[in-house]
Amino acid sequence: MQRSRILKVKDKTFAVTLSERTIKSQIRRVAEQINRDYEGKQPVFLAVLNGSFIFAADLLREINVPCEISFIKLASYEGTTTTGNIREIIGLNIDITGRPVIIVEDIVDTGLTMAHMLETLKPHNPESIEICTLLLKPSKLQVKLDIRYCCKQIPDDFVVGYGLDYDGFGRNTKDIYTLIQN
Ligand code: IMP
Repeated sequence: MQRSRILKVKDKTFAVTLSERTIKSQIRRVAEQINRDYEGKQPVFLAVLNGSFIFAADLLREINVPCEISFIKLASYEGTTTTGNIREIIGLNIDITGRPVIIVEDIVDTGLTMAHMLETLKPHNPESIEICTLLLKPSKLQVKLDIRYCCKQIPDDFVVGYGLDYDGFGRNTKDIYTLIQN
């Protein structure tokens, strides 16, 4: 059955821009790259919740080197003595010391989340850290980031679907949709 090209999420309207087929073929391409680069190694994938859960599940099934995965989250809380907002990683239940790490992210927009993630993971002394993102908005990047693995670069538009949300909704689609109407 043909799927709808228009998606309504809460008060907004989106139109399909990346089909399931395109997404899957880009994931296979990136997975092949990772399989080549990590031959003889045992990488640890750190998938950033919530947005990357579907991407991580599809990516991992294309990986054929021995690997582990852990689902992590950047949690914000107000420090009692500090003035700023502290963000720490929760859910890191694998010792990454001396291990090659691949962060799995749904989308890199300003890049601030990934920059913070790298800073927080470095003190654990992994052998290496690379970023693998499903989507990248290059025109929005505010920090210098070395993104080794990227499935698709997209324009500076808001997208939902395939794990990505608008206000918590819209994650449960096979295609990716772009906002067309506010
Ligand atoms: P950054 O720190 O600006 O790179 O933001 C990254 C996070 O913002 C992603 O992990 C997403 O949760 C969210 N985000 C950025 N752009 C979009 C979008 O177009 N749709 C849904 N979520 C987005």
